[in-house]
Amino acid sequence: MTANVAIDPRPGRRWRRPRSNGIHAGLAFVVFATLWVPLAGAKTAASAWSLLPQPAAMHPAGNGVVAVADGATVALSGSQHTQALPIAKQFVGWVGSTRGLHLRLDGSPATHSAIVFDLDPQADVTGDAGYHIAIGDGAIRVVARKPRGLYYGAVTAWQLLTPPGWKPHSTAYVAEGSIDDHPRFAWRGLLLDSGRHFQSVAEIEKLIDWMSLNKLNVLLWHLTEDQGWRLEVPKYPELTSIGACRKAVGLDVELTGSPDKPYCGFYTEAQVREIVRHAAARFVTIVPGIDVPGHSQAAVAAYPWLGVTGKRPEVWTDWGISAWLLKPDEKTLRFLDDVLDEVMRLFPSRYISLGGDEADKTQWNASPEVRARMRSLGLANMDALQGWFTKRLADYLVKHGRTPVGWDDELLAGGTLPVSEVVMTWHGRDKLRVALQAIQQGHDVLLAPVESLYFDYYQSDLPDEGPGQPGMISLKDAYDTALAPEGATSAEAKHVLGVQAQLWTELVPNFPRAEHALFPRVAALSELGWSPADAHEWDGFLSRMPAEMARYRALGIAYADSAFAPAFSLAPEQDGKLRVTLSNQAGFGAIHYTTDGSPPTAASRRYAAPLEFSLGAGTTVRAATFAPDGFELSAPRSHVIGSTALLIRDGSQLATCSGRPPMRLAGYRPAHGAAPVYAVDVGNMCWLWKDAPLHGIRQIRVTVGRIAWRFGDDSDGAVVRPAASAAGELQVHGDSCQGTLLATLPLAPAAATKYQTTLGAEVDSGSRAGARTLCIVATGDPRDGQWAIANVSLSR
Ligand code: ACM
Repeated sequence: MTANVAIDPRPGRRWRRPRSNGIHAGLAFVVFATLWVPLAGAKTAASAWSLLPQPAAMHPAGNGVVAVADGATVALSGSQHTQALPIAKQFVGWVGSTRGLHLRLDGSPATHSAIVFDLDPQADVTGDAGYHIAIGDGAIRVVARKPRGLYYGAVTAWQLLTPPGWKPHSTAYVAEGSIDDHPRFAWRGLLLDSGRHFQSVAEIEKLIDWMSLNKLNVLLWHLTEDQGWRLEVPKYPELTSIGACRKAVGLDVELTGSPDKPYCGFYTEAQVREIVRHAAARFVTIVPGIDVPGHSQAAVAAYPWLGVTGKRPEVWTDWGISAWLLKPDEKTLRFLDDVLDEVMRLFPSRYISLGGDEADKTQWNASPEVRARMRSLGLANMDALQGWFTKRLADYLVKHGRTPVGWDDELLAGGTLPVSEVVMTWHGRDKLRVALQAIQQGHDVLLAPVESLYFDYYQSDLPDEGPGQPGMISLKDAYDTALAPEGATSAEAKHVLGVQAQLWTELVPNFPRAEHALFPRVAALSELGWSPADAHEWDGFLSRMPAEMARYRALGIAYADSAFAPAFSLAPEQDGKLRVTLSNQAGFGAIHYTTDGSPPTAASRRYAAPLEFSLGAGTTVRAATFAPDGFELSAPRSHVIGSTALLIRDGSQLATCSGRPPMRLAGYRPAHGAAPVYAVDVGNMCWLWKDAPLHGIRQIRVTVGRIAWRFGDDSDGAVVRPAASAAGELQVHGDSCQGTLLATLPLAPAAATKYQTTLGAEVDSGSRAGARTLCIVATGDPRDGQWAIANVSLSR
């Protein structure tokens, strides 16, 4: 008998957010005839243009090529050498470190230069970021009016030298023609959360480099959070001596090395200046993000007088929406003016984010002092009080010549945002209704939809996919982000300043995980932000990904191959055979496979139709995906096809009983090997194996692991099932979770460890017939450490 004590899920933090359907407004799909420039007649190796983001206009011409060999010269033309020189130097660096061609930078214009950078204030290009490239007469000439445009022209020139199938150290042959380019949006942004987990200065600088090579130009640097205040402010030293440290719990212990060692980190003034300088040289603006009045528990931990209760909380160790709000009084506002003074000293950016999201008003409502303040200001409710508070800070920024930026939460709550504020709309549902509402209230907006541009959401449901918030945001989901609020007039649409992806880092403890989450979805972001709407075309985008991923590889980016990796689907046939279907998420490239144990190559058998295997001795199928140019789009994946193949399920292949998409969470890393990743329905330890082949089954084995509970106390809808023993048990029911109890597996043997344990039990003999749904539930309270299933296997 199972009684569920369910606490209603509140619409809480990111992992419970419903994903809207139908936000992808129909975009005009126009196939660009020049995605691949054919090389008919060229006597040289491949030299197709494969540019990402796709430029505004391309004009391939004839069959001629420009050769760029090792030792070719790069020259500067025009009068503004000092501004062009650092850009040319960076270009030479990229070509050297990726293509392996060592170009000679010759400061003066020369007649035989292979590449010429020309900074000409009179150049006929569109805007400061625009550029023109002419490829012909033996040279590649990049012209721009401003250094910014020259930089983007240099990036394109580098991409011209790294076309599909490029091989390091070989002479590059670039097809003749010309390119006229400029960005669609002024703001092509990425938010990096350094609050939940922080990154080193070197890592952030690397990310800035890679952003700029995708023509992204804004890094919204989220520096303050409940879980850590990361910006040094000399006037308030405890912001960092206390606020930058949290107790190491859960997987934090793997980062600090000991539960006794807190997880601490912040950026000094000198480090911030270094990052700002590094970014400026790459035409990336660092927009600092200070998030108030919510997401401020670390600040209250440092200075309890900033809070409502006067009590000192811990710097938060959970994920979710903290209850600790800043107190909306004059003393807090003076503190924030001081913080903003420091922020303005360090960051030259015109824009500064004040956050404003997810401010749970419980503490405000409970405080007689805050209620009195609300009344004395003549305000109707606490949302209006947040509006008043935000306006005070926004006005302070405006007075100092800056422009405030904030999330759309206040607008959604019916509050009023200061008109000066640029609104970041993370609620993209209903065809960007909130964005349109913000525009109609007089704001410029940034599109940052949770539905498709939150890159902390996982990007595939492959068993080996990394951790991520639920549900899946595939490369195509990101690419298909709608950028035109439905019903907006063309004048209204002009108030869309740009587009921004978010990397929140609750589940991103280190930089390799960030690289996996960001790339290649950053390519989709790049194209959304830069390319004209009529160039937006998925197949063309995909055809340019092999060269782009080869660039990632040369740059050393640990990108995800999830969109291209072969997925195995196994089904029984009538005659005792097994049918194996291979596919990949993007539906792009050719899958090649082997069955003799060798690694698949582009010369291995090509997968064309489902494979059939007899269920005798096991065969290992190894498969990988290749691009038309032979580039390996995915690392090989393998699957053992044998008599037990249908009797084993990876935890990620089980359905959740709630029907919600699972979160993917890392488990504890064993002494040897990689950390496991579990698909977890947070708060509900209940799984379904639909159509499990129960015929003749005598035993069930379940490998379980444990997740540290970091999702708040009782507010996230934890389902508690009464346990028969202290450690609880797994109960296996037939047909449904209310069906016959087929087996019970006590969890006691697994309770002493945070690593994996395999449990086994006999299956009730009366139930071994046919294919039936198995419901597996864990009793007990998930908040004590949620159980996760690594795999389930049945045996006869
Ligand atoms: C947000 O995701 N809270 C902006």
